[in-house]
Formats: sequence, C-alpha cells, structure tokens
Amino acid sequence: MTANITVLAGDYIGPEIMAAGLKVLAAVSEDQDFDYRLHEMPFGGAGIDQTGEPLPAETLKAAQQSDAVLLAAIGGPKWDGAPKTPEQGLLAIRKALNLFANIRPTEISSAMQKYSPLKNTEPVDFVIVRELTSGIYFGTPRETTDTYALDTMRYTNEEIERITRVAFDMAMKRRKHVTLVDKANVLDTSKLWRKIVAQIATEYPQVTYDTSYVDAASMKIIASPGQFDVILTENLFGDILSDEAAQTTGSLGTIPSMSRGTDGPSLYEPIHGSAPDIAGKGIADPISMIRSVAMMLTHSFNRADMATEISDAINQTVAAGIVTPDLGGQATTEEMTKTIINHIKESRHSYEPDHV
Ligand code: NAD
Ligand code: IPM
Ligand code: MN
Repeated sequence: MTANITVLAGDYIGPEIMAAGLKVLAAVSEDQDFDYRLHEMPFGGAGIDQTGEPLPAETLKAAQQSDAVLLAAIGGPKWDGAPKTPEQGLLAIRKALNLFANIRPTEISSAMQKYSPLKNTEPVDFVIVRELTSGIYFGTPRETTDTYALDTMRYTNEEIERITRVAFDMAMKRRKHVTLVDKANVLDTSKLWRKIVAQIATEYPQVTYDTSYVDAASMKIIASPGQFDVILTENLFGDILSDEAAQTTGSLGTIPSMSRGTDGPSLYEPIHGSAPDIAGKGIADPISMIRSVAMMLTHSFNRADMATEISDAINQTVAAGIVTPDLGGQATTEEMTKTIINHIKESRHSYEPDHV
C-alpha cells in the first residue's frame, strides 16, 4: 500500500521546515517497505496568492482523499488585514476534516533538559488535548459594528463528550491522570465542561481526575509541570497554554501536534506559526516539523519504529549541541537536519549484521 500524504508547506518559514521534515521522511523510509506519495498543494497565504483562496477547493479535495496531511505553518504580515486571511484557511480545513481533537505533547527529554528555562528538575511529560473545532473560534453570532464587536463561546454536550473521551483514552495509555483546565468560576461553558467531564470520568475508574482554573494552570505549567499527565481543555485556552508549555523545552520551535477526527485523515503540524521574523535566514528550528512527521508515522501509518528512530536521532543531535539559534546554538536548519539524518543512518549501519 502506498501512503498518500498531502503536503501543505504554507508561508514564511513553512517551506523551510517542511523541506527539512520531508528530507527526514525520505531518509527514515529508505529500505523500510514504506512507500509514500507526496501531494504538494497551495494553502494559507500561498493559497491566496495562487488562487485567491486560503483553502482552495483542490487542496481540500486532495486532503480529504489522502491518508494524512502534513502542514508546516501559514500566515504573516503580507496578508494581515486582507479580506481573506491564511488563518481562515487553517480554521476551515480543521472544520472540514472534522479535526476536533488536537494533541500537543510537551516533553523535556534528558537531552533537552539543558535548554529548558525551568530551574526545577521535575520530569516534564504531559499532553495538552485541545478541543479544535468549536468554542469561541467558531461560535456565532459574531460581528463587528461601529460601537462594539462580538464573539461567542458556545459548546454543546456532544462536543465536550467526544473530546473528553479522547483525553481519558489517552490517559489510560499514559500515567492515568486527567486535569480539566477551565474558567468555571466565571464562564457557563466551563461549568458545562465540568459537569460533563465529571460524568465521563466515572467511566474511567482507573484514571484520576482533577480540575484547574486556566489562570492557575498557566502558573503550574511553570512552577510544577510534573503534576500534569493529560491536560484537557477548550479551544482558546489550549491555544494559549500550548505555546507556554512549548517554551519550557527551550523553544516554541520544538513541539509538534496531531489533529484528528473520528475517521478520515489526521493532520500533523508544528504548534507554532510562520515566524516571519526569522524567515529566509535558514535558521528556523526544524524539530517541530520533524517530530510532526514522526507523529504521522506512528498514528497514521503504524510505524512507531520509524518514529523512534527519528526521535533518537533528534535527541543525539540536541545532546551534542547541534541546535538552531532559538535554542542558543549556531546551526542552520540544514545543518541540523543533516545531522539528524546522519544519526538515523549511522544507527542503522551499526546494527547491520556482519557479512560472512
Ligand atoms: P510564531 O509562532 O510564528 O512565532 C513566535 C516566535 O517564535 C517568533 O519569535 C518566532 O521566530 C519563534 N519561532 C516560531 N517557530 C520557530 C521555529 N521553528 N524556529 C525558531 N523560532 C521559531 O507566532 P507569531 O509571530 O505570533 O505569528 C506569525 C504568523 O503565524 C501569524 O500570521 C499567525 O497567525 C501565524 N500562525 C500560524 C500557525 C499555524 O500555521 N498553525 C500557528 C500560529 C501562528
Ligand atoms: C495554532 C494557531 C492557530 C490557532 C491560528 C493561526 C488560527 O495559533 O494552531 O495554535 O489559534 O489555532
Ligand atoms: Mn497557537
């Protein structure tokens, strides 16, 4: 079977890190009985420039027909304030593919420890399960008049239930702890989350469950991140907390994500944006994109073995200090990517059986 992968390189550093991710995919696929075909499509600002639409119809069709979607990053000053924006394309593809569950892992491996700005030495290994297709991002009414603007945060029982099950199922495969992050001391939507999550928690007696207000949770991510295993939260809170969590590894440029629905292709992307401030310099950190490729191999193609090879190679590379400037190093995107690929090749070579 050939894996069909839709590739959305996007804008600014998007194409730079996508190139890195695809090189690693090619290297790790060598001699692995893993065949894939890439379908590169315009999306985001690149979609607007080529077709007038941030999510062109052919791009959506290609995504729907593929086994997985790889996205780098979209957006930037070129399209800020335009009638159609790259960000609208991102929200539209998430909605169209029903990608309601966004999984954003934060792990500070022993190799990454020295880059973390956190002084405490607690092991950090948690996952943010962010609801991705509802809440204030999509709620209506939504309007701007001369005297006010209005956004609406709305959640249905069913939307909360399905993402809650994703979080508890994930906890069962991890350290069996879920923290619901909300603002239930103020918001009605949060009160509904508490009620429904508490009900579903009773179906998972092995999973411990607690809650935290979002302001306090943002503090705990810095002060005592070791207490978290699975953080379950709504769309906007998850957006904000995941950038904060990412930076505890030393850089926003290290964290990948997976977005999935109930069926159909999942989408894999770094959690960060198109970093216009460093685009074109060849210094973007490729780790987030390369890890997104690894997540895709594990979750869409059942090749956790290849993902582990990638992860080991990244750890060897960062442990040796071959890192981009966001992590305090001097390596370029290309140098770092080459080093990662060399580690993949070397480890395979050293395990080859002797010829007799
Ligand atoms: P950003 O995430 O692009 O950048 C924030 C900071 O992190 C910048 O200083 C940037 O240089 C740095 N950074 C991010 N990724 C990096 C990497 N891989 N290597 C090194 N440094 C990295 O956020 P922003 O500047 O607020 O947004 C820029 C554009 O990206 C906006 O148009 C925004 O809407 C868009 N955006 C897109 C996505 C996406 O495509 N999923 C996500 C977030 C933001
Ligand atoms: C992200 C981004 C997007 C979001 C923007 C670009 C619409 O910040 O993927 O985290 O808010 O979801
Ligand atoms: Mn974000």
